[in-house]
Amino acid sequence: MVKIAQTEYPVLELIKNRWSARSFSDKLIKDNDLNTILEAATWAFSANNAQPWQFVYAHRGSAEFEAIWGCLAGGNQPWCKDAAALVVCISQDVFENGKRNDWALHDLGAANATMMLQATEMQIFGHPMAGFDRAKASTLLGLNPETHTPWVIMALGYLDSPDKLNDPYKTRELTPRTRKALKEVAKSMKIS
Ligand SMILES: Cc1cc2nc3c(=O)[nH]c(=O)nc-3n(C[C@H](O)[C@H](O)[C@H](O)COP(=O)(O)O)c2cc1C
Repeated sequence: MVKIAQTEYPVLELIKNRWSARSFSDKLIKDNDLNTILEAATWAFSANNAQPWQFVYAHRGSAEFEAIWGCLAGGNQPWCKDAAALVVCISQDVFENGKRNDWALHDLGAANATMMLQATEMQIFGHPMAGFDRAKASTLLGLNPETHTPWVIMALGYLDSPDKLNDPYKTRELTPRTRKALKEVAKSMKIS
């Protein structure tokens, strides 16, 4: 089951096919494939080409996966235990010269979106989550809170049937994706 976006305009298939899945099969992601997905992220644009992102990942079955999973909120842990990999997505909040990078979060988001499109092309589904204990994750990864911020943990994996989920996750997995109408978010500028 792929929750294909019903769009008003002829958007790329890859964009239509990406969605935040919860039901993952037991198939693991090969290192080469995970590296392909992560490299894709690094080809996103960024202010000054500062590339203010870092990704720390672990494959399911490792102690590191358990440690990252242990940072997730109670609402994310039940379905995330079956993810093939978890990736902590971190912004680097200062430029090399020490000045604050106010665009770091923007650029991390661009990198994450690029990551997800590459994954979708490879039949790998991703699900970003802000529902985690950020202080715990920072400590776990030895991050300096002055310079590095973990924003989302990305669950990655191959799709499985929604039937393996309990509610409310199963219902969410089956609910069609929706968006605001384009006219609510985009308009032609008019000088009055
Ligand atoms: C920054 C961010 C945080 C999110 N946090 C969670 C989360 O903690 N748990 C969850 O189930 N989904 C989370 N999501 C997924 C969103 O709910 C999802 O992207 C949105 O409903 C649109 O659905 P789609 O990605 O399938 O198009 C998050 C998404 C983003 C971008």
